Amino acid sequence: MILRNVCVIGAGTMGGGIAAHLANLGFQVTLLDQTEEAVRRGAERLRTAKPPHFFLPERLHDVRLGTVAESGEWIGEAEWVIEAIIERPEAKKALYESLLPHLGDDAIITTNTSGLEIGLLADGLPESFRRRFLGAHFFNPPRYLKLLELIPTSETDPEITRKISQVCEADAGKRVVLAKDTPGFIANRYGMWCMYLAVHIAEKLQLTVEQADAITGPFLGRPKSGSFRLNDLVGLDVMDDIATNLMARCTEDPHVAVLARPKSLNFLLAKGALGEKVGQGYYRREGKELLAFDLVTHAYRQRQDVDLPGLNALAKRPLAERVRLALGQRDEVGEFLRLYLAPALRYAELLKEEISHSVQDFDRVMRWGFGWEMGPFEMIDAIGSASIGLSSPSHYIGGQYREFSGELVTPAADPQFLTLLDYPVIEQHENFRIRDLGDGVRAISIGTKMGTVTPDLVDELSRWLRLAAAGPLVLASEARAYSVGFDLKFFSDAIDLEDWDGIDRALAGLQTLGELLEARPTVAAVHGYVFGGGLEVAMSCTQVVADAEAQIGMPEAKVGLFPGGRGTTLMRLNNPQTAKRLAEVVGQLAQGITSTNAEHARTLGILRPGDIVSYHPDRLIYRAKQAALHLKGAEPRPAWTKIEGPVLGQVDAEIKALQTKGLLSGYDLSIAEKIRNILVKSDSYEAALARERSEFIDLCHRPHTVARIRHMLEQKTALKN
Ligand code: NAI
Repeated sequence: MILRNVCVIGAGTMGGGIAAHLANLGFQVTLLDQTEEAVRRGAERLRTAKPPHFFLPERLHDVRLGTVAESGEWIGEAEWVIEAIIERPEAKKALYESLLPHLGDDAIITTNTSGLEIGLLADGLPESFRRRFLGAHFFNPPRYLKLLELIPTSETDPEITRKISQVCEADAGKRVVLAKDTPGFIANRYGMWCMYLAVHIAEKLQLTVEQADAITGPFLGRPKSGSFRLNDLVGLDVMDDIATNLMARCTEDPHVAVLARPKSLNFLLAKGALGEKVGQGYYRREGKELLAFDLVTHAYRQRQDVDLPGLNALAKRPLAERVRLALGQRDEVGEFLRLYLAPALRYAELLKEEISHSVQDFDRVMRWGFGWEMGPFEMIDAIGSASIGLSSPSHYIGGQYREFSGELVTPAADPQFLTLLDYPVIEQHENFRIRDLGDGVRAISIGTKMGTVTPDLVDELSRWLRLAAAGPLVLASEARAYSVGFDLKFFSDAIDLEDWDGIDRALAGLQTLGELLEARPTVAAVHGYVFGGGLEVAMSCTQVVADAEAQIGMPEAKVGLFPGGRGTTLMRLNNPQTAKRLAEVVGQLAQGITSTNAEHARTLGILRPGDIVSYHPDRLIYRAKQAALHLKGAEPRPAWTKIEGPVLGQVDAEIKALQTKGLLSGYDLSIAEKIRNILVKSDSYEAALARERSEFIDLCHRPHTVARIRHMLEQKTALKN
C-alpha cells in the first residue's frame, strides 16, 4: 500500500462510513470526534448500520476510537487525515488550526465537504498546510459507492493530488474524478439540480411519485430508485442543506432557482419525514409494505401500479432510441421528459466548463456516482443534440472525446479497469466465448443468462477443455452475476420424466468439468451471485479471485438438495479435515448458507486461504489476469485424509444443536444426513463423488424436494417444509 495509516475526524454518517470502508480494505484506521459521547454514538451506529459498513462485524475492533483533544499522538502518526465533520466552514477551519501542532510533516489532509469551496476552507492557514490540503469527496455509503471526487485548490501540490488519487484508485477501491473547486463540485452541483427538477416537474404535471420513478429509473438507463426513492436514500435534509448552500453561492447561475424547495419537500421536511433513515419521506415503510406520498393531497397511500402505455410501448428498445422516441411523444412521458430531461441535458452543456475538466469527467461522475448508464454528454450524442434543441458537435467520436477547446483527444488507457466485454473474442461457442486477455492469458467468458450452468454449457466447455492448448485461463461470466447456479428447470423436468440416469449424467458431467479445470492453471473471477453449480465450477479452479461484494455459497438445501457436482466433496478437501470443522460444514450446507460478501465466504471455508478478494469493484478481471500470470501450474487436489476421533458423533451433535435452535426443519435433517454420509462415510475421494450423485438422486425421488424445487421455480422463494 502507498500509505496505510489514516485518521478520520468526525464519527458521523460519513466519517464512520469512510473509517469502516478503509478498515475493510486493510488501512490502519483511527476515528475521532469531539466528545467521548459522540465517539460512542458513532461506534454504535457503525455496529448497527444497514446495509452494513463492515465486511465482518469484528473489524470494528480494528478501528482506534478517541477524541480529537486527547489523540495528538495518533493524529501525528497519520499519513492521511480525513476531515468529515459538520458542514460549517468556521468549525472546519477551527479544527484545521487545532491539528497544526500535531500533523506529521508529510501527512495529507482532505476534507469530505459536500460543496464548500476548498480554497476558502484553507484560507488563512499556513502554506505548509495549504499545499497538502484538498477535497476528497466520498459518497454515501462509502463502502458501496465507488465515485470519489478529488478537488485540489490552486495551491495544492500536484504531487499530493497525484499521490492521493493513486491511493484511492489502487488501495481504497475508488474511481477518481478531478473536479474544479466550485460549489458542490460536479456531483452535487449537477446531480442535485436534476433531483430537484424532477420533483418540480412531477408536481407541476401532477404525476405520482411512482410514475416519476418509473420514467426516471431504468427507462432512462438509471437505477430503479428513479427520483423520489433516490431522494429518500440521500436524505431530504441532506438535499436541502446542499441546495441551500448552492443557492447562496451560485448567484450567477441563471438556473439556480430550480434548487428552491418544491412544495412536497417543504411539507416533508417540516414533518421530519427525512427519508429512508427515519422510515419515511416520499415513501413510508409500514411493516413489509412501502406506502407512497401523494404529491397532491400530501398524505401517504397504498402504492399504485404504474400504468404509462407510452413507457411500456418503448421499454424494450435500446436506451437512446426509446429516449429519443419518448421525447417526441404526445403523452405524460413525453411531456415529463421535455420539461425534465431536455433542460437537464442543456444545463449540463451550460455548466460543463465551469465545473469539470472534460465531458468525460462529467459523464463519469454521473455514471459512477449516480449509476446512470450514460452520462449527460453520452446521452446528448446518442439522442442527437437537435432533439433537445441544441446543435452541438458530437462530444465523443471513435474512442476520443472533445475537449472544451474543440479538439479531440484520446483518453489515457486504463488497462486495470477493463471489463470482460472489453477484450476481443477469439472463439465463439454456443454458451461461452473465448476472449484474449493478452500476455498469453485467455478467458472463458460464460454467456448464459445470469451465468446459469446448464448441461449444454458443461458438455461444450468440457469438450473444449479436453482439446484446448496449454496456458493459463480465467473463468468469468458476462452476466450481471457470475452464476445463479445449476439450471433448476433441468432437474425439475428430469424428475417429471423420472430420468434418473439423465440426472446422474448431468452431475457426473459437472464433476468431470471440475476435474478438467483442476488439472490446469485456472483462475475463476467471480462477482455478484456465486451460487451452487457455478460455485462448484469456480472452486475447482486453481485460484478464485472474488469481488469483495460477491455473495458466495451453496444454497441447494433451499430446494431440497445439496451440492452434487463435487461441491460437497470439495468442502471437505478444502477445509481442515477435522471432526469439528466437518460438523460445521455439514450444518452450513444443510442450511444452504450463502455469504454476504467475499470475506465472509472465507470465514465459511468456501474461499481457500490462497484465494484472493478483489476490493476494487472495477478491477476484477485485471486482478484475475494478474493472478493467472503468477500461477506456477495446476495445484494438486488435496488428499482425502482419514479423520481421527468420533467424527460421526460430533456431526450428529452439531445437527441436533442446529435443530434445537430451530435452524434445521424436519426435512433439512434428511438433507443433513445425506451430506454427513458423503463427508463421513466415504473412504475416498472417488467414493465421495459417487455418493454425491446417488444421494442427490435419492432426494430427487422425495416429494419434499420436488415441492421445494417447484416452489422456487414458480414463486422464486424458498419453501420451508
Ligand atoms: P454528521 O452530522 O453525521 O457527522 C458529523 C460528525 O462530526 C458528528 O459526529 C459530530 O459530532 C462531529 N463533529 C462536529 N464538529 C466536530 C469537531 N470540531 N471535531 C470533531 N468532530 C466534530 O455529518 P455527515 O453527514 O457525516 O457529514 C460530514 C461531512 O461530510 C460534511 O462536510 C458533509 O457535507 C459531507 N458529506 C455528507 C454526505 C452525506 O450523505 N451525509 C455525503 C458526502 C459528504
